Amino acid sequence: MRSIHILIPVLFFCACSPESKDTSQNAMETKVDSLVSIMTLQEKIGQLNMYNGTWEFTGPVPSDENSQEKAENIKKGLVGGMLNVLTAEGTREAQKLAVEESRLGIPLIFGYDVIHGYKTMFPIPLAQAASWDPSVGRESSAISAKEMAASGLHWAFGPVMDIARDARWGRIMEGAGEDPYLTSVFARAWVEGLQGDDLTSEETVAACAKHFAAYGFAEAGLDYSTVDISNHTLYNVALPPFKAAVDAGVATVMNAFNEIGGIPATGHRHLQRDILKGAWGFDGIMLSDWASINEMVTHGYSKDSASAAKSALLAGCDMDMESRIYERHLEGVISSGGLDEALLDDAVRRILKLKFQLGLFDDPYKYSDMERERTTILTSEHLAKARETGRKSIVLLKNDRSILPLKKAGQKIAVIGQLASSKDVVLGSWRAQAIPNSGISILEGIQGAVERSTSVSYARGYTLTKGDRTFRFELDIVEGDRSGFSEAVQVAGRSDVVILVMGEDCFQTGEGRSQVDIALKGNQEDLLKEILKVNKNVIAVLMNGRPLAIPYVAENVPAIVETWYLGSEMGNAVADVLFGDYNPTGKLPVSFPYHVGQEPLYYYVKNTGRPVPNEFDAGMVFWAHYTDSPKKALFPFGYGLSYSSFEYSDLQLTAVEKGVNVSVKVTNTSEVDGVETAQVYIRDIHASETRPAKQLVDFRKIAISAGQSETVTFTLSTEDLGFYHAGYSFYAEPGVFKIMVGGDSQNLLTEDIELDF
Ligand code: NOJ
Repeated sequence: MRSIHILIPVLFFCACSPESKDTSQNAMETKVDSLVSIMTLQEKIGQLNMYNGTWEFTGPVPSDENSQEKAENIKKGLVGGMLNVLTAEGTREAQKLAVEESRLGIPLIFGYDVIHGYKTMFPIPLAQAASWDPSVGRESSAISAKEMAASGLHWAFGPVMDIARDARWGRIMEGAGEDPYLTSVFARAWVEGLQGDDLTSEETVAACAKHFAAYGFAEAGLDYSTVDISNHTLYNVALPPFKAAVDAGVATVMNAFNEIGGIPATGHRHLQRDILKGAWGFDGIMLSDWASINEMVTHGYSKDSASAAKSALLAGCDMDMESRIYERHLEGVISSGGLDEALLDDAVRRILKLKFQLGLFDDPYKYSDMERERTTILTSEHLAKARETGRKSIVLLKNDRSILPLKKAGQKIAVIGQLASSKDVVLGSWRAQAIPNSGISILEGIQGAVERSTSVSYARGYTLTKGDRTFRFELDIVEGDRSGFSEAVQVAGRSDVVILVMGEDCFQTGEGRSQVDIALKGNQEDLLKEILKVNKNVIAVLMNGRPLAIPYVAENVPAIVETWYLGSEMGNAVADVLFGDYNPTGKLPVSFPYHVGQEPLYYYVKNTGRPVPNEFDAGMVFWAHYTDSPKKALFPFGYGLSYSSFEYSDLQLTAVEKGVNVSVKVTNTSEVDGVETAQVYIRDIHASETRPAKQLVDFRKIAISAGQSETVTFTLSTEDLGFYHAGYSFYAEPGVFKIMVGGDSQNLLTEDIELDF
């Protein structure tokens, strides 16, 4: 028996092998069809089945978890893919079961959550977006792909393109922030980086655009919670990044845990079949999220698991991650006539096609190469890129008295804060296979950057977490511990300058980590107050994966540097900026509030019928404002300083056929060469559906030498000026447009122009 099991796959693949190098669509379709034609119903359902391995659980562990049974099912050809199977050796072992012991020997596909690095960690996605430089996304993803592919993995469960407007939502760190245009730019870059231009290459992997759709709109920022979003916002805000990813050729998409208007995304036929696979022509795999098919029962949508299986497949969900619902119920549903087998065949085809595209039928072990794994991962070249992308992701928020950059020589520098010395927090949440405590801490980065004539003294100061915080699921946040204050104040008092590293532990953000408060925890602000009594030269270095409400810090320290979590080389990247080896270029991809009560806070808001005429002098209450807090952002979207200073002038608009040309002069008014990110926003002043008062439609990074000016030009077409209308058609409406250009979303030159299309 055993020899037949082995022989059949060998014969099948020998017959296919010469042709399988032919990448033409038709040849592949023929191979897929011929394979589908010899598969049993159970084998076809098996391809839709994705198991979790035993290395890691990134979702609730099923009560009937049985790895022996899973291995047996792989041998029976009842499994199509796995997640959380790790290392070249581990994937090779699992692959062997499928390829050498199942009847048809169809290889497994292995997926893993890789969103900002595999072992070499790059800035968290939100930080990458702060670079406003898509090459940061593209290049870091290409390295992630190379490393994970050398470890046996074929499929990255990323990028994340959820628009996140509520800073309480812990998963805001996984995406590119609040804006659909910026997120679309990064969605494209991340997909291009992961997939390259050849999926068969050993250095690329399939990407997965997630979470389809509107997952970031969870009510009150509560992860997994209800989403109730209008079509107007769904089409114009939540979906564009996914469309961009599909246009960039993303191989797979993952649906989401949330319901939208009463229908769980996993069973949402209109989203998956009509929009994604229909209107957008997506021909890749739609993967469920972890057990999200079964969760449709808990949502109160499907009456039992069998009906969840039916709804999910009908809706276009091709693959079942870890709920084993397709495995257990699809056969019954199809055999009893409850579902057309053609739907199953279509899903199987999509899965087999990707396996062919990845070259798995030519060599199912080609990614599982122990030697390549040993030599490819965590190389000095990868670490250098981590440092480069890290410093590009830093945003300078305040720099009074030009206190930054610091001198490297002859200084007494105090570095204070528990976060400052952490070699682990720097790696960020969703850190794939990063080695715990392996990053360069901010303290180490500073110590490594200064000259011998400078002394660096460290004090912990506040205590934010205690215990082994590398354990990812429970974080013990401490409040009220002042035991480190006096040492910190002493160190601050005898120093020229204090670098106070403040913020959040990286595991305060990520999946399942929503918070009701986004102020600094762990007595950090109290410590700052004590330090300011002895030294006013405080540079606040922020580490965080979400916008923070920090009005006191903003008001009282002369300099603030937003550094997020930058990955393996964080300390070095931060030191590059603090000591002026790199002139900061980042801009915020999210709005920072004064108070958590402003959330969701985002710049892309409508005018309303009662905009505040002049924020605080309105003199009346009958305006859209808060009576106890500013309405605007503390630090707005698009904002970020540099050691250079820039001025915008000469905004000129020229109507062209179906669009407008925009030109603006940007002058570097400082004595330092620098890079500015010029941003273009529009407002369609009157439209058949109201449009936001500002909407980012383009931007450009421009290097400008000290004292020089550059004229930047943009061409806006109907693609930029239009929007999705109810009924889902996209077009631009003629009329007057406001065109705004500047260095952030609040300081803009403005001109109006009448356009006819
Ligand atoms: C659930 C998360 O929502 C998703 O992003 C991730 O890919 C899966 N778990 C697998 O870990």
